[in-house]
Amino acid sequence: MAVQPAVYGASERPPRGDYTRAADDYTCAQNWAAYTAQDHDTYHRLYLRQCEQLPGLASAAFIAALPQLGAKERIPRFDDINERLYKATRWQLVAVPGLIPEVPFFQLLANRKFPVTDWIRRPEEFEYIVEPDVFHDLFGHVPLLFNPMLADYMQRYGEGGLKAARLGSCEMLARLYWYTIEFGLIRESAGLRAYGAGILSSHGELPYSVHSPEPQRLPLTLERTMRTRYKIDSYQQTYFVIDSFEQLFQLTEGDFTPLYERLRGLPEFAADERNP
Ligand code: PHE
Ligand code: FE
Repeated sequence: MAVQPAVYGASERPPRGDYTRAADDYTCAQNWAAYTAQDHDTYHRLYLRQCEQLPGLASAAFIAALPQLGAKERIPRFDDINERLYKATRWQLVAVPGLIPEVPFFQLLANRKFPVTDWIRRPEEFEYIVEPDVFHDLFGHVPLLFNPMLADYMQRYGEGGLKAARLGSCEMLARLYWYTIEFGLIRESAGLRAYGAGILSSHGELPYSVHSPEPQRLPLTLERTMRTRYKIDSYQQTYFVIDSFEQLFQLTEGDFTPLYERLRGLPEFAADERNP
């Protein structure tokens, strides 16, 4: 993703990427030649392992669009995906060195540019990585950018982010991103499925989010979501469920300014608080 640091929490460690490569808008060239055989192998193994468990757990739209990423044996060239993506929804992938600040992140989304971290995790980070890498960003986020409804939602989210930044409300908006784009569940006719990138790129959280009796699953409402804090270093204890991407789109259509005003005065919910 290269999601704004607010989404992943202000990190105590410096980010891994080399930001001297980046232009003013934080984009850089995808350094494809720098990938090693081991990097490609890591991508391939992550891809295969995750693919195996998608049926019954991932949303139908995600499964349908996944082949658009191209060959699974090696890290794709973003420009190669872009040829298909631009035709499908007029979105483009741009490379970034890693997490970027929120305003440039919103700016890119508002222009239908999706920032993708270009480096991949080390083999010892196979199970879990603190920062989003190219596998999370590509595998988790990009298939649904081929979906017209989600594609439009993401652009509007970017525009809404620029507005939230002016209103000092990024934290509330970031929670909506977290509980939809990163950790969203959808009720499909065949059953509960994941559409959030953080879930779809995680081997453990994908079955957990759909099947575990441990977390609570609440119907998505703007108010509950935007008042709920989140944990970045454990499986979620609260998921929000939508009925359709259309519902998500309609729910977020209006001007959030009065909502931010109202919510500012209300108490927050802890990430694991059992109180709908
Ligand atoms: N409609 C929201 C606003 O006016 C912006 C937004 C759009 C937020 C889509 C999330 C998703 O602020
Ligand atoms: Fe992400």
